[in-house]
Amino acid sequence: MAPLDNSKGVWKSGKGKGRKTPKGRQLEDQAHSEVLALLGDRPRNRDLLIEFLHLIQDAYGHLSAAHIRALAEEMRTGQAEIYEVASFYAHFDVVKEGETPPPALTIRVCDSLSCELAGAQQLQKALEDGLDASQVRVLRAPCMGRCDTAPVLEIGHNHIDHATVEKVQAAIAADDTHVHVPAYETLADYQADGGYAVLKDLRAGGDWEAVQAKIKEAGLRGLGGAGFPSGTKWGFVRANEGTRYLAVNGDEGEPGT
Ligand code: FES
Repeated sequence: MAPLDNSKGVWKSGKGKGRKTPKGRQLEDQAHSEVLALLGDRPRNRDLLIEFLHLIQDAYGHLSAAHIRALAEEMRTGQAEIYEVASFYAHFDVVKEGETPPPALTIRVCDSLSCELAGAQQLQKALEDGLDASQVRVLRAPCMGRCDTAPVLEIGHNHIDHATVEKVQAAIAADDTHVHVPAYETLADYQADGGYAVLKDLRAGGDWEAVQAKIKEAGLRGLGGAGFPSGTKWGFVRANEGTRYLAVNGDEGEPGT
């Protein structure tokens, strides 16, 4: 039989037959160097995945398939795992090949209970009517934990309390779309000021029973529906031997929940 003409590389070769490149999406040099530049010398720990996704989202306004591939390479994990995490959270925009990236600026209007009552729907409509959708996209979003200043929205990463169209206009004009971090008291300052003194005292063998009695007397109860007395519940935990784990406020969600 005449030898195969494989000058176009369309036939599997006999020796080491199969693909010349790994199956699936290929690593792109540019996307890889962009991800490398963003990650710097941070350890490639799996628990930092969300932080890395934020870095890419903030730098490029979305997560492209090429960046996800590059991140998978860096973290030595599968693209599927990164995709699962990225597509779970509303703050990440996964853009596959051939899809159009979202506009550079996103406004998220809280649509949970307090904000709804304070006119979030009308605010969202006014923004959608007034803004150029090719430049700014307006989305609904769940509670932002600022219900006391409803209605609330987030423009880029800047939260606007008691939001109005005028405040949004001013923020856009001033390019004020970045996070405002308040001057929080640090843990060290808090402790230096006597913070956690009671806890330290109790851990050192303080009068637990007296505290429990006071909590019971105060009538403190859980707000999860059952209204279980906190002092009694704490007693159950204390009565158990071994390591105890306490999950505090795992997700209370918005006030209506
Ligand atoms: S309901 Fe809007 S911030 Fe909580």
